[in-house]
Amino acid sequence: MNNAPIGIFDSGIGGITILNSIKKTLPKESIIYYSDNYNSPYGNKSKKEIEKLSIKNTKFLIEKGCKIIVVACNTATTNSISKLRTNFDLPFIGVEPAIKPAAMQTKSGLIGVLATKGTLSSGLFEKTANNYASDVKVIEKNATGLVELIEKGIFSGEKIENILKKNLNPMIQNKIDHLVLGCTHYPILIKTIKSLIPSHIKILDSGKAVAKQTNRLLIKNKLESNLIDPLYTFYCNGSDQSLNKILNFKFAINII
Ligand code: DGL
Repeated sequence: MNNAPIGIFDSGIGGITILNSIKKTLPKESIIYYSDNYNSPYGNKSKKEIEKLSIKNTKFLIEKGCKIIVVACNTATTNSISKLRTNFDLPFIGVEPAIKPAAMQTKSGLIGVLATKGTLSSGLFEKTANNYASDVKVIEKNATGLVELIEKGIFSGEKIENILKKNLNPMIQNKIDHLVLGCTHYPILIKTIKSLIPSHIKILDSGKAVAKQTNRLLIKNKLESNLIDPLYTFYCNGSDQSLNKILNFKFAINII
């Protein structure tokens, strides 16, 4: 038993989509969420910069007493998780685009992956795609500009639709039957995404899989909590506007 909190970080509010899954699967766990939105977006930063920021975020969460760290960002995971695992002595869970289930389930043999430039150009993404999707055609698109809009608190409307259409239309024309949301910010746009693609295209994100893996690692390391009233604490180092919007002002946010 260990009632210390789970630490979650992202470049902004994207990781809240992961937090929601974890909260649902593990209702007795306290969580500390850290949005590094001062440095957002990570998607067009170099691997070195992303590693540096991920180390900084991890140190912050460890100082707050976290027992396990969830890297709730595909860009940070694919560029820095091995560095984090060598530098720190606690369990890490990462988020990667759900290419494996998409490749296993596709009937058309064509899948679409929407992610950031940093994720798509990472060695880990290439390795996963080669391992699991070598028989499948993967149409990759980096939806530049989406994370910036979401971080400004814009979750719908013309600007969002235009970026999505530009990236999704070529996938639709190529007859994909699975769309992988390879950035934790994108499930926030699920309604708009659904309205822009044919209904037979299955949309996959990594929320549930990450929550399950977090549960497995807590059990394996004997770190489960038994709190009846767990605490949810939120930190950001930029504006709290988007975090307040996504949390519906239900929680107090600490600006650091
Ligand atoms: N949520 C991050 C991800 O999953 C966003 C990346 C960014 O900051 O550009 O990749």
